[in-house]
Amino acid sequence: MNNPISVGLIGCGYWGPLLLRNFMSLPDCHVAKACDMSDERLKHVRSLYPSLECLSDHQEMLTNGSIDAVIIATPVKFHYSLAKQSLLAGKHTFIEKPMAASSAECQELIELAESKGLVLMVDHTFLFSSAVRKIADIVDAGDIGDIRYINCRRLNLGLFQKDINVAWDLAPHDISIILHILGEFPSSVNCQGNAHVTPHVEDVTNMSLLFRNKRFATIQSSWLEPRKIREMTIVGSRRMIVYDDLQTHEKIKIYDVRVERPPHYDSFAEFQYSYHYGDSYIPHLRQEEPLRAVCQHFLDCIASGSVPMTSGREGLELVRILEAASASLKANGAPIKFEANGNGLVMPKIPLVRGAAALNAQ
Ligand SMILES: NC(=O)c1ccc[n+]([C@@H]2O[C@H](COP(=O)([O-])OP(=O)(O)OC[C@H]3O[C@@H](n4cnc5c(N)ncnc54)[C@H](O)[C@@H]3O)[C@@H](O)[C@H]2O)c1
Repeated sequence: MNNPISVGLIGCGYWGPLLLRNFMSLPDCHVAKACDMSDERLKHVRSLYPSLECLSDHQEMLTNGSIDAVIIATPVKFHYSLAKQSLLAGKHTFIEKPMAASSAECQELIELAESKGLVLMVDHTFLFSSAVRKIADIVDAGDIGDIRYINCRRLNLGLFQKDINVAWDLAPHDISIILHILGEFPSSVNCQGNAHVTPHVEDVTNMSLLFRNKRFATIQSSWLEPRKIREMTIVGSRRMIVYDDLQTHEKIKIYDVRVERPPHYDSFAEFQYSYHYGDSYIPHLRQEEPLRAVCQHFLDCIASGSVPMTSGREGLELVRILEAASASLKANGAPIKFEANGNGLVMPKIPLVRGAAALNAQ
């Protein structure tokens, strides 16, 4: 495609303007229109980009033949309907995380995009960050040995959402990173939490994902913390990685530490754990905005007709885990197990919470 790819944005709240800025910064892109139902948000966007055409109704964007792609950055409950309309109108479609409010909705969008030969991408932003790419390289190279567990904490005060709980809001980042690093889907999920502020909308959750070979990941998500924390620890059999996303230059630290049990000992007195303390080091990371890389990847996939690294399929996997977490919350933290079906897709063993209505009813 020689002409710049023409895109329109639906949803100009908190995240939409960041997408606008990044798409506008890319040479192979023309941002043609932005849409929001709120006059206040449109006023804000006009103040940032006076020459950008602003709409209060997205229909005009969909019927406009010169727009190649639609970016959706609205609350989750609108993702499915807007993405479906966009795909039916023949537009390549980019959806913010989480992809939709249920796996059935994701499945339908994937099939629709495939049947129309359109690119469908979900914004799992962190997979495009230099920190996560570096961690994946280190893990793939075998530098830390076998991963034993991953622990994530994503905590801060607010921002309270009304239609989704904190797991659906914050945990997608951690889940996407965990699935990417481990390269597999969990065999079961369990989640506990509480709604302290808004009835039925959990503001604190603890989720666990169980993988093969006893590997597991824990994800703590909270809107009720005095401090902002964005931390992940990846514990390997040989080394350990601590990833602190709030650090500007030293986001990743690799610790050459491990504990070993002696293979043989004759008496209890001889038994000694062997603690290894080696050097720690901080790899250099390129300073780049992950969202710019996300936007560029979407444009590249449209231009080349390739499947995005974070396609509808990855969006669906993530939503399956969130659905299982919701089902587990309802069952007081009971594990929700997945099993493979004939298509190689993992399916929950018990019926899951479905749709935005079900989310609201949690
Ligand atoms: N990738 C990330 O790191 C990241 C970060 C923050 C938010 N997000 C995601 O971005 C999405 C938006 O989040 P936000 O925090 O910007 O929400 P927000 O509530 O601040 O903004 C959403 C905007 O969408 C508008 N809107 C809703 N329905 C619309 C419709 N039919 N037509 C036009 N406009 C409509 C609302 O008026 C609002 O201005 C969510 O899916 C969220 O999970 C992603």
